[in-house]
Amino acid sequence: MTQNSDGGGVSEVDWDAEAVSFDEEPDHGLRDPEVRAAWAERLRDWLPGRACDVLDLGCGTGSLSLLAAEQGHRVTGVDLSPAMVDLARAKLAGRDAVFLVGDAALPPVGEQRFDVVLVRHVLWALPEPGRALRRWWGLLRPGGRLVLVEGVWGEAGIPAETITGLAEPLGGHVRVERLSEDSALWGKDVDDERYAVVVRGD
Ligand SMILES: C[S@@+](CC[C@H](N)C(=O)[O-])C[C@H]1O[C@@H](n2cnc3c(N)ncnc32)[C@H](O)[C@@H]1O
Repeated sequence: MTQNSDGGGVSEVDWDAEAVSFDEEPDHGLRDPEVRAAWAERLRDWLPGRACDVLDLGCGTGSLSLLAAEQGHRVTGVDLSPAMVDLARAKLAGRDAVFLVGDAALPPVGEQRFDVVLVRHVLWALPEPGRALRRWWGLLRPGGRLVLVEGVWGEAGIPAETITGLAEPLGGHVRVERLSEDSALWGKDVDDERYAVVVRGD
């Protein structure tokens, strides 16, 4: 990964090639009931208690999209990788969800606005994370929120303090939740930095 002055990186991962085996990681596919339950519980806390419109950017195979849909939310997913989008469409077939191929930094949603922009393990790979956050904030309805799940994995990732520094000027209420110690989320013990940043406009 190459790093830039905004704290972001440019991912050199071939996500189309990764798609076929992506769900094999416990926290990706959420196939283990305990891991799945741990993410469902966090998501229930991060998302509003009423049915709302969620934009899942860099949605991958749609694992978090599915949890959100199961909790009654309407989901729009966007991913740059057509192979990931195909898998997300299959995973959420029959649900109130649409998936688009596009750039998370410039989501192809036109004038549509959302109650939540949900982004897990994607912001770190964008070349200009500060610009992306400002754009996402602008996609929210009044009182909406950003839910950002990120971490630092060796050379890759973005520290929580970089995201909070970029998010503070948005004007919302910024809260950091540390996730490293909750091994149920990862299907194993981890000792690197993993966290969620929730930025609320209400
Ligand atoms: C580590 S995966 C995370 C997938 C999903 N958010 C999850 O948590 O399971 C990163 C995803 O971001 C997508 N991605 C990377 N850069 C992107 C961009 N600029 N716009 C949209 N999607 C992007 C990749 O195709 C991949 O599906």
